[in-house]
Amino acid sequence: MARTPSPKARITALRDQISRHNHAYHGEDSPVISDAEYDALVAELRALEAEHPELADDESPSSRVGAPAVTTFDPVVHRVPMTSLDNAMDEDELTAWGERVAKGLPGEQVRYVCELKIDGLAISIRYENGVLVQAATRGDGKVGEDVTPNVATIAMLPKKLAPVKKAPKGTVVPEVLEVRGEIFMSTDAFLRLKAEKEAENVERAAAGRAPVAVPVNPRNAGAGSLRQKDPTVTASRDLSMWAYQLGEVVGGPKFTGHRETLDLLAALGLPVNPEITVVDSLEGVSAFCRHWREHRHDLPYEIDGVVVKVDDLDQRERLGFTARAPRWAIAFKFPPEERNTVLRDIQVSVGRTGRTTPFAVLEPVFVGGTTVSNATLHNLFELRRKGVRVGDTVIVRRAGDVIPEVVGRVPGARAAYVPNFRMPARCPVCDSPVQREQGGIDHRCSGGLYCAAQRKQALLHFAGRRALDIEGLGDKLVEQL
Ligand code: IVH
Repeated sequence: MARTPSPKARITALRDQISRHNHAYHGEDSPVISDAEYDALVAELRALEAEHPELADDESPSSRVGAPAVTTFDPVVHRVPMTSLDNAMDEDELTAWGERVAKGLPGEQVRYVCELKIDGLAISIRYENGVLVQAATRGDGKVGEDVTPNVATIAMLPKKLAPVKKAPKGTVVPEVLEVRGEIFMSTDAFLRLKAEKEAENVERAAAGRAPVAVPVNPRNAGAGSLRQKDPTVTASRDLSMWAYQLGEVVGGPKFTGHRETLDLLAALGLPVNPEITVVDSLEGVSAFCRHWREHRHDLPYEIDGVVVKVDDLDQRERLGFTARAPRWAIAFKFPPEERNTVLRDIQVSVGRTGRTTPFAVLEPVFVGGTTVSNATLHNLFELRRKGVRVGDTVIVRRAGDVIPEVVGRVPGARAAYVPNFRMPARCPVCDSPVQREQGGIDHRCSGGLYCAAQRKQALLHFAGRRALDIEGLGDKLVEQL
């Protein structure tokens, strides 16, 4: 039987693992585990460290926000640190946070500002006398990276602040205004970039050349696009931003609430998310969270939760910070849409037109709200590009109604010899030859309507909504037919 490691050994292993993931996530924009798995590792480490204060270490990744700045961009010291947020993984944890806030402000009325938690890259943008002078990533929260030329290419971001037409009379630009927000790639921009790279790969495949990397999700695509050495590449990537917090401010109006600060940002032409809502009870907060958990895919960009902030700035000051995060805010996290699991087998399915698509048979995993045991691998070319083999741990993504897919493999040990998947020479259903399309990347079964799989899919298509829409003629009946 395997022995449970000592707390010390487990803490060391967790610290090491989390540091490596921090590096992969922040340094290389290529996370190898999902956010949920990362959060679970950090939670386990924190719990163990709390139980064993004698094993405390200032260098522990649990006390840092992210990875240290590791790239070749110039360092920028944040004058006001860019702290992270504590997470609430469910409504109970949200309620517990609400109770802590109430305890810190006995007898006081609390207003909450509910914001979407944008799944992008945190940024701090400094304007001096209204002119954009510097933009820095968060880095480790104290020191970030100077990405000014890249951020300056973002079309929706003003390079010079001035009151917009609808701004209240008397709106003035502060001498120094540091704006914090999230840079992200919209879903459309991501799909365009992905399609572009995939098309490039079709051409490369035809020419026998190695494929280029295809972005796996909008977050990585956004982060990768921002951290380019050549700003013209960033400029071509259609990045966006929502501003949600102030950093250093010198001069300008005095504020009493957070909502007011956001109103000033909007009045100066900065992009502020229109869904932000102020509520005066925790029930209101829960309703906002529930609404957006249901409707997250109605938005043209990705969110991974809701951020709730106490509105009153004086109450915030009295609540203060813990070692790593403000007590006046919390991130309510949605269930993850990406998870890791084991690839048990690779099989092929045959579609209506004979297209043979490889798909992954997975160790069942709960992702995107359901248990997933199969996921598409798209085609042989994609499968090779991702380099997945049976037995690997892979990242599975299921977002909204989109069919689950394997987006990549988690690097790690694999048995000495695992054969690479080969497209079967004959159709697994009708035994007709499977041929690769000339100049294309798809394979097809040549059996036509002789193939039971193609017949079945053709009938389903014929009876389906987009054709004759025959009620009741579904999977079971077609199978019998
Ligand atoms: S406020 C001190 N508001 O989530 C408060 N953060 O998990 C600092 N994020 O580091 C952050 N949307 O990168 C805030 N509306 C929002 C946000 C947001 C996304 C990110 C941000 C932050 C991380 C914390």
